[in-house]
Amino acid sequence: MATAWDPDQYLQYASERERPFWDLVARVPARSPGFVVDLGCGPGTATAGLLEHWPEAAILGIDSSEAMLEQAKAHEAPPRLRFERGDIATWAPDDESVDVILSNAAFQWIPGHSALFSRWLAALAPRGALAFQVPANFDSPSHTLLRQLATSGPWRDRLAGVAERPQIPEPQEYYRQLTDLGANAQVWETTYYHVLTGTDPVLEWMRGTGLRPFLGQLMADEVAPFTRSYAEALREAYPPSPSGETLYPFRRVFVVAGRS
Ligand SMILES: C[S@@+](CC[C@H](N)C(=O)[O-])C[C@H]1O[C@@H](n2cnc3c(N)ncnc32)[C@H](O)[C@@H]1O
Repeated sequence: MATAWDPDQYLQYASERERPFWDLVARVPARSPGFVVDLGCGPGTATAGLLEHWPEAAILGIDSSEAMLEQAKAHEAPPRLRFERGDIATWAPDDESVDVILSNAAFQWIPGHSALFSRWLAALAPRGALAFQVPANFDSPSHTLLRQLATSGPWRDRLAGVAERPQIPEPQEYYRQLTDLGANAQVWETTYYHVLTGTDPVLEWMRGTGLRPFLGQLMADEVAPFTRSYAEALREAYPPSPSGETLYPFRRVFVVAGRS
């Protein structure tokens, strides 16, 4: 199924995708957490790096994708590092049972995820932290061009659902939502200027994430013309330099919250 996650495609830009993960972890105040959960852990590569970062911690990665979990299981190191299939939206931890709830680049797939904050805050042990990062580049050309193409071709009726712009709270909204629940929160944003190389690198980046749901809705004979038109538009929006480097600006929002 074209909508399924492809860990190899996703990991093509593993180091760029891991940068925000470690920038987030660096701001988590817990020094020696006992239990850490990584929601939407994907292929588990970054999750596994936590073994060294928090040497006392038991770490659980949760993801809904079989393909991602299969990759993640290669990193398993029980009892310290385990991976489980689960849905972030219905994950129901016991109160005060988790020291760090971490999530990198996953909540954008969960519409209305702010409604889950109260449950997650209640799940934090004293001095625990809820720390997450979400992409906030839905108005950048990589995404607007995709939505324009999806809503203007012969495929527009079939792509109408996936072509809707994800509604991710702005940083100040996250701050307000969390502090209204009595939490303390630090919120910030960063724009990474990823330096990509190779042919159509922004297309390759998007193949690993945001393009998947679109391709999954297309008829088999539409995939090639759709991808070709998207690649052409991306080449114009992100022209490579003479030396072959393509700069891909990518805004991301970070939140670290705890119970006051
Ligand atoms: C962009 S990847 C991020 C993976 C990893 N956190 C990282 O930083 O590389 C998003 C992940 O969220 C997972 N995901 C999306 N919706 C989910 C849900 N409702 N429950 C659990 N995992 C979900 C996907 O399967 C995918 O592995």
